Amino acid sequence: MDISYLSLEGKVALVTGACRGIGKAIAMIFADAGADLAFCCRNQPHLEEVAEEIRKLGRRALPVAAHVRKPEDLRNLYEKVREAYGRIDILVNNAATNPGMGPLVNMDERMYDQIMNTNLKGYTILSQLVAKLMIEQGGGNIINISSVGGISPDKGLGLYCISKAAIIMLTKQLALELGPYNIRVNAIAPGVVQTKFSEALWTNEELMEVEMAHTPLNRIAQPEEVARTALYLASDASSYVTGQTIVMDGGGSL
Ligand SMILES: NC(=O)c1ccc[n+]([C@@H]2O[C@H](COP(=O)([O-])OP(=O)(O)OC[C@H]3O[C@@H](n4cnc5c(N)ncnc54)[C@H](OP(=O)(O)O)[C@@H]3O)[C@@H](O)[C@H]2O)c1
Repeated sequence: MDISYLSLEGKVALVTGACRGIGKAIAMIFADAGADLAFCCRNQPHLEEVAEEIRKLGRRALPVAAHVRKPEDLRNLYEKVREAYGRIDILVNNAATNPGMGPLVNMDERMYDQIMNTNLKGYTILSQLVAKLMIEQGGGNIINISSVGGISPDKGLGLYCISKAAIIMLTKQLALELGPYNIRVNAIAPGVVQTKFSEALWTNEELMEVEMAHTPLNRIAQPEEVARTALYLASDASSYVTGQTIVMDGGGSL
């Protein structure tokens, strides 16, 4: 069977938050599929380790330390990638935060700024920067990692859910505006994925029992499964798909 439409040969991909978890799995599958990578997180030693793994696959790797909550870091990240590669074919906005839980009415302004500035403003600013380059180069592909929390509310995760819902609308808005420039924009909304981010949930037997009671596939996801969906969206396999959010929650939303 010819599956060359899944190839990313000759493409340059930029992935935020690629030092572990979903972002790293996406960076690795993109490298496997032939892409050269640029990526960020905040931890220099982790950046170097991931760069080494990518280079072992025979691809170029550009690790850049950046905090996606800081617009100046995003501008520096963008400039470094443009300098090194001259183009960006695929952007994955992945790095996000959820620093606290509790009823929405108790969440203070500091928490609001932290969540919205990292999750929503970070995705928006980097998309703006990269989209302008994609328009110049004649096309591109943007993938935003949202969450099932962006579709249904979740007790205790109010601001996080609001930020993730906004990312779904950011995806639709960008897809509408950028389609004529041959730029596709889609989102992925995972349920629970086994990463550090969700560790408090999947290490807690009681919470997992509640979660599995409404999850038909009866398990949580692995980061590599999200990465395979990202590869589908990043490649020509999804060439007529734009503005969409792929929910991958093991059927939990049923
Ligand atoms: N895991 C889940 O159950 C789940 C479910 C639905 C959606 N998601 C979404 O999936 C995405 C990735 O989550 P994950 O589970 O893979 O998390 P993770 O395992 O904690 O990994 C997050 C990655 O992002 C980096 N990062 C975090 N904050 C950053 C910042 N402000 N600036 C730059 N890099 C930052 C981290 O490295 P440093 O800390 O070194 O910077 C790390 O490399 C997030 O958007 C999350 O909302 C996760």
